[in-house]
Amino acid sequence: MIKLKKPEEINAMRAACHLAADTLVMIEPHIRAGITTNAINQLVHDYTLEHGGIPAPLNYHGFPKSVCTSVNHVVCHGIPSDKVLVDGDIINVDVTTILNGWHGDTSRTFLVGEVKPYVRKLVDVANESLERAIAIVKPGITLGDIGHAIQQYVEHHHFSVVREYCGHGIGRDFHEDPQVLHYGKPREGTALKEGMVFTIEPMINAGRPAVKKLRDNWTVVTRDKSLSAQFEHTMAVTAHGVDVLTLPSS
Ligand code: MF3
Ligand code: CO
Ligand code: CO
Repeated sequence: MIKLKKPEEINAMRAACHLAADTLVMIEPHIRAGITTNAINQLVHDYTLEHGGIPAPLNYHGFPKSVCTSVNHVVCHGIPSDKVLVDGDIINVDVTTILNGWHGDTSRTFLVGEVKPYVRKLVDVANESLERAIAIVKPGITLGDIGHAIQQYVEHHHFSVVREYCGHGIGRDFHEDPQVLHYGKPREGTALKEGMVFTIEPMINAGRPAVKKLRDNWTVVTRDKSLSAQFEHTMAVTAHGVDVLTLPSS
C-alpha cells in the first residue's frame, strides 16, 4: 500500500531531507586519503544529533553503525570500520536521517584524491542516470519508465545496473511501498500520483551486475570485484512534476 503524503507532510519530510543532504555537504571535505570509515561514521553521528536528528541506520534491523560507507567494489550497506581510505578509492556515503518522525535518505559517491579516468566515468554515469530518471518524474509516468531511463542510459555506456536492491517509498517508515527498480520497460508498472514520496538510488557496476552479500550479513559486493557507484535522492511527486527533497538547505 502506497501512503500518499499531504503538502504539510512533504514539507515536514523536506526538513529531514535537508538535514540528510547537509550531512553530505559537511562530510565532503573530510573524504581524503587517511580517514577511516569509522571516523566518517562518528562525524555523521555527531552532526545528526547536534541538529536534532536521529541516524536511521543505527540498529535498523541490527545495522551496527549510523551511516553506510561503501568503498570501491562494495555496492551498498558497507559497515564503517577501521578501514583507511587511500588515493584512488571511491566511497558512497549513504545518510538517512530521522527528524520529527520523518525520514530523509540521500547518498553520493565521492572520489578520494585522483582516480583513473574510467573510474570518474563510472561515477559520472551513475550520477547522470539518477538525474535523468528524476527529470521524467511526474504524475502519469510509470515506475517502469523510471527503471528504463536508468537502464538504457547506463547500458549505453557499457556499465550494468544492480537488480537485487532498489529505491523505495519513504516517510514515517524508512522503507515503504513502492519498490523503485532501476531497470524496466516503458509504460510498465505502477503509475505515479501526486503525493507519492520515494527514493531513486541506482547502483551501477563497472563490470557484471551480479552481487553477493558477505558473511557479516550486510556488506553487498560485486561478484566480479568490479567497482560500483551509487547516488540517491528522496523526492515527492507534485501536480505537474517532481520536488527533490534531499537538496542542501542553502
Ligand atoms: N540507506 C539505505 C537505502 O538507501 C538503506 C540502509 S539500511 C542500513 O535504502 F541498515 F544498512 F542502514
Ligand atoms: Co534509500
Ligand atoms: Co540510502
